[in-house]
Amino acid sequence: MNDLDDLKRIREIDPGGMLEAEEGFYGQLAESKDIIAGTDLSSLYGKKFTGLAILGMGGSGFSGDIIKALAADEIKIPVEVVKGYELPAFIGKGWLVMAVSYSGNTEETLNALGQGINRGSHILVECSGGRLEKVASGSGYALIKVPAGLQPRGAIGYLFYPAYLALDKLGLIDIDEMDEDEALGLIKERSESYNRNMPAAKNPAKKLAVEIGDRLPIVYGSEGIYAALAYRLKCEINENGKTPCWWNSFAELNHNETVGWERLSGITRDFVVITFRDPDEPPKMKARIDVTLDQLGSNTGSIIQLMAEGKSKLAKALSSLYLGDIASVYHAILNGIDPTPVEKIESLKKELAKLD
Ligand code: F6R
Repeated sequence: MNDLDDLKRIREIDPGGMLEAEEGFYGQLAESKDIIAGTDLSSLYGKKFTGLAILGMGGSGFSGDIIKALAADEIKIPVEVVKGYELPAFIGKGWLVMAVSYSGNTEETLNALGQGINRGSHILVECSGGRLEKVASGSGYALIKVPAGLQPRGAIGYLFYPAYLALDKLGLIDIDEMDEDEALGLIKERSESYNRNMPAAKNPAKKLAVEIGDRLPIVYGSEGIYAALAYRLKCEINENGKTPCWWNSFAELNHNETVGWERLSGITRDFVVITFRDPDEPPKMKARIDVTLDQLGSNTGSIIQLMAEGKSKLAKALSSLYLGDIASVYHAILNGIDPTPVEKIESLKKELAKLD
């Protein structure tokens, strides 16, 4: 029996239930529609926003990356993703500042939010509790409250989707209902094909984990949603699998990184390159990626190409995200690693809190 089909072993290695959280991705997306329907955004209605800043770190910060990439074709105001303590000086009055922190206690996000508040920005907060919730309720800011009890990265459906839907409600973007139906329908189907009960021979997520194996992954994606997804998968492999992993994006990597593959092939032959692909890549992007993968040739152990599923940008983004996320949990389990704990993140946060 494949190790990933051994349900008892999975339970032993994953006592924190990270795989269960991933299996619940569709449920999180579906529930998000109710969450946003029950969220009071009235303090923001009728406002003419001059810019959108999305603040957040790590698993919460990814919401900003993917929303920016998804909205890029239609949003008419600048979108800035802020991952750090400082809000750039051009963000101030008239901007919508959306602070996303699952725990509600991430100090970089709280600090940058404080700067937005002081500059008179419009404020929207998304969290499951913590200090952010107190700030929002104390001052009457719009608050998207999401269910607690998960690791932030395992709550991505709850973090990304309500925030994205809120932008639609506020008139900044217009989400096509057919795209939503397509995306959610696809994720519902994949929840079955990626579920632990689906044997490895028929389960693309388990197969991807096995293909990565115990090699060092390098993740590539083209600018826009796939660059965001490449970064996300790198973070998932880091946090779930406790494995080093790096990422880069096309076209930028063609101006530097590819040259670096010329040396140390004795080491890089133990790497595996994972590339997000889109069936509708513009011809130049398709050619660029094909040529690049050829150039890497025998200097990499192997190349895995993940073709996005679905027609709409939303379906492609969510289906690619889902495959990478759940495969990273299987990858951890395959290597005997408990995916849940992130001891280095927690201990640093504690150390820094002592300075408050
Ligand atoms: C942990 C994780 C981290 C956190 C980050 C910020 O699962 O994914 O990357 O997301 O440390 O914490 P929150 O999301 O609570 O603001």
